[in-house]
Amino acid sequence: MDAIELLTQQHREVSELFEAIEKAEGSDEKTRLFRELASKLVGHDGIEREVFYPACEEAMGMTDLLGEALVEHGVVEFGLYEADQATGKPDFDYKVKVLKELVEHHVEEEEKEFFPKVRKALGDDKLQSLGEDLEDAFEDTQAEDYHRPLFENLRQVLAGVLQPVVKEPAKTKGSERAPARARRSA
Ligand SMILES: [Fe+2]
Repeated sequence: MDAIELLTQQHREVSELFEAIEKAEGSDEKTRLFRELASKLVGHDGIEREVFYPACEEAMGMTDLLGEALVEHGVVEFGLYEADQATGKPDFDYKVKVLKELVEHHVEEEEKEFFPKVRKALGDDKLQSLGEDLEDAFEDTQAEDYHRPLFENLRQVLAGVLQPVVKEPAKTKGSERAPARARRSA
């Protein structure tokens, strides 16, 4: 199976699990299915970011579609974290629904716009060997619980987003003012 066929098959498996969660009766069954979904999604996100996208970037450069896909991965990771923290809680269904919408949007863009361009740029031989690399990498991800890689991915996303931006106050002539406390006690 080549890289695009493998990733597309994983998209279908994830979509089926979302359907199963929606239809499931009872919180325990929903949580069990969600954990299966989360493990697949964390694995899928990981092999795309660490194996597939670098190969795409090498062949095509950092295109808009690739840049957006990387950002969407961060958003999906956050949605997955939120839903994971809500298992068994009243807002679990809402968080899974929002996660499903994020994933469906990402999958649609990948399959309709990005993958056709990748297939043209990489060619069948490269996609075949990349498919084997992705399969091996995915197997490794399924050998451990998904929480550690999920938290690590999220930590990286947040580190990129939440870095404090220290803005120097605009300096204008004579604008030096005593600190507020000093002013108040003056
Ligand atoms: Fe994907």
